[in-house]
Amino acid sequence: MKIIPYGRQHIDNNDINAVRKALSNKLITTGKEVTRFEDFFSKKVGAKYSLTCSNGTAGLMLAYLALGTNEKNVIIMPSINFIASYNMADFIKAKIYLTDVDPKSGQMRPKDLKRCIKVNKLKKISTVVVMHNGGIPCDMKEFFKLKNKFKFNIIEDACHALGAKYDISKSHKVGSCRYSDLTIFSFHPLKNITTGEGGMVTTNNKKLFEKLILFRNHGILRAKTNYKKYAWNYNVISSSFNFRLNDFQCALGISQLKKLDKFVKRRREIVKEYKNRLSSMKEYINFTDQNKEKISANHLLVINLNLKKMKISRDQLISKLFQKKITTQVHYIPIFKFSIYKKFYKKNFFLNALEYFKSSISLPIYYNLKTKEIDYICLQLKKIIK
Ligand SMILES: Cc1ncc(COP(=O)(O)O)c(C=O)c1O
Repeated sequence: MKIIPYGRQHIDNNDINAVRKALSNKLITTGKEVTRFEDFFSKKVGAKYSLTCSNGTAGLMLAYLALGTNEKNVIIMPSINFIASYNMADFIKAKIYLTDVDPKSGQMRPKDLKRCIKVNKLKKISTVVVMHNGGIPCDMKEFFKLKNKFKFNIIEDACHALGAKYDISKSHKVGSCRYSDLTIFSFHPLKNITTGEGGMVTTNNKKLFEKLILFRNHGILRAKTNYKKYAWNYNVISSSFNFRLNDFQCALGISQLKKLDKFVKRRREIVKEYKNRLSSMKEYINFTDQNKEKISANHLLVINLNLKKMKISRDQLISKLFQKKITTQVHYIPIFKFSIYKKFYKKNFFLNALEYFKSSISLPIYYNLKTKEIDYICLQLKKIIK
């Protein structure tokens, strides 16, 4: 048995051919594949505007820049989180506040946000970054009510949530920015679709979109050109980065996006296969996504362990599974645990985040994971835990 990773991309011949074809285009960056990918993405998620960028982290930075974030602004985000949203806000020197989370899903809930605002006596909040941990959409309707009450911007970190919907009855998709100002996606190989490295920002706000375009390309403002008039001249109106994604990556993105529904469907089946095989383990294992796999992008399969019933710790379980060639992960180590951000830790404030962190692991889930591998993983889990 080979090592089973916890996530892996799926690249087929159509993807390879799409990249090969794009490499023979005249322009291999800032060419037609970029706009094709952006237009296709907008259609797929139901947003007015989509902007490709070099990765999800760049997307988060672009969102902060487009919103005009500076050192006077307050940004709130969950403590169970990938470090990118925190790092980028810290880079801008914004005033960052972390919330506690739901102990099962690791997600920030509206009540966690309200508590953070109250305890820290926050008056003016610039932006709240919501993260759909695992691919399960957060309670955006409630966050939207708070947005209207407190007048803050919402950025959705949807790096896990491409393919997710906000509710079962309607087809409102994550990425449509129905409840937010901007939504960010990552196309890292472990995500639901990949461009190697890559990202996308969606919005319905034209002004924000124009700012995203500006900040993606060094803060350069260029006059519109046509075949009669060659506009070589340009102005720089802000300092910024080169956060562009090239054409062959965008061609791969288009080819991958065509397969998104198939990818998500298989992930949903995998969740069911795990649940069936582990149904006798309810005493020890809880699935955090409960009955939400129909709206979830099923990016991660996080389980919560009932450590009181178990003879081994979460860390021991991870090493024992690894001895059996099964790779797992923890999503995520709370941000306040890292040495650089320890100073923000508040005693007794993040109790749920700590509980979630201690008891959760992510099991392997990806399009190519075979049913016989799921059988093996579940068998090993049962043997080790029991
Ligand atoms: C929740 C979340 N946010 C942001 C990012 C950053 O994306 P990228 O790796 O494309 O920069 C990731 C990727 O790992 C992520 O999982």
